[in-house]
Amino acid sequence: MRSAHPIAYPALRMARGPVLRVPGLGILVRDAALLRSTLLNTASFTKTGPGSPSDLWTGVLGPSVLLNMEGADHQALRRKLAPIFAPSYVETLVAASLGEPLARLTRRLAGGEPVDLVEEVRRYSSIAISRLVGLDSAELTADLFHKVSSITSMVRLTRSTLTPSEVTKARVVMAELGAHAQRAYRSGDEQTVPGRMRALGLTEAEALGAVGAFVLTGTETLVSYIPRLVCLLVDTAWLPLVAADRTLIEPAIAEGLRVTTPSPVMLRSVVAADSIGPVAVRPGDRVILATFAANRALGPFDPAANTAATLRQLWFGAGSHFCLGAPLAMAQIRIVLDSLLDAFPDGGLRVLSRRPARGVLIPGYAKVVIGG
Ligand code: HEM
Repeated sequence: MRSAHPIAYPALRMARGPVLRVPGLGILVRDAALLRSTLLNTASFTKTGPGSPSDLWTGVLGPSVLLNMEGADHQALRRKLAPIFAPSYVETLVAASLGEPLARLTRRLAGGEPVDLVEEVRRYSSIAISRLVGLDSAELTADLFHKVSSITSMVRLTRSTLTPSEVTKARVVMAELGAHAQRAYRSGDEQTVPGRMRALGLTEAEALGAVGAFVLTGTETLVSYIPRLVCLLVDTAWLPLVAADRTLIEPAIAEGLRVTTPSPVMLRSVVAADSIGPVAVRPGDRVILATFAANRALGPFDPAANTAATLRQLWFGAGSHFCLGAPLAMAQIRIVLDSLLDAFPDGGLRVLSRRPARGVLIPGYAKVVIGG
């Protein structure tokens, strides 16, 4: 996290108390209960006011893309999209897109070949993006991940908007992905996600907006998390224990999500005078919900203690904006971890080398070479 945010991260960690006003930055919240109550209080805190995510993303994605919506329209769009994230749809999508590449990963590792897990997970992410935008595998390009991360890496915690030239660059990338999604939507082919959205009654604009939101929110989080989870399991010597008792996989994944918190902060804008704990807030204030700090305060990674269970998946948010892609994310994490354990049934996988990523929004590794 320090490599990704060398100034903001130490400053956020050093801050004292559960809530405080930081001049020039906003109201910083670092307590799990206060964080949850802020997320649930949509009368006073929204994603659409000044300094909120809508300032960042509306110029790039348009006005109605879930993460910059509130109220009845937002709920209605989420309801329409629910079948896309139903377990049966998600599991079919993940098995169809990742089954073969993961079988190859298991074979390579079992055969003694070292593998860069970050590069591997980036490829899965590109595959997932192509599925979401309705590209077929022949059109797969390895740089889809890089294109998307070139957008998110423009975001800085200390700025609440993108510059006009950043917006223009981001729009070019999204327009390219949007053109594929539009084709898939218009074809009505239900094998594609945009085609399925059309069948579910989404308008073309809603479907293209949703695809943009999925791509921006769901790409880097997984590329960050999966290698970090594997490093954690190896560094803490939990991997052999999880390999010996696979019922520990779920608590290990939850604990990994708690201590890494791949989406480390959430932003809200204050629309009505209120308070967060002892701190009074007024309309126009920007709220920085430091989920990573709240989650980490519960102690070190420990799948046996599983303190993560008390947090009700706070790493995926809470309330009306709770991560829509959580079932898809969990299915992908499980299937990758299973493939690694299939290659190393005794949990003897080692991290041969690693390098943290710099200048990125979502902290993670640039490279993690694994092998036996
Ligand atoms: C480990 C992986 C992931 C983590 C930790 C994560 C975390 C989050 C969090 C914290 C939020 C709420 C933000 C807020 O309230 O301000 C969110 C929202 C969202 N996530 Fe995820 N996410 C992950 C993966 C994904 C994936 C794979 C997808 C989809 C393909 C996805 C799609 C979305 C969408 C569409 C929203 C916006 C929902 C709304 O505003 O109604 N996420 N995610």
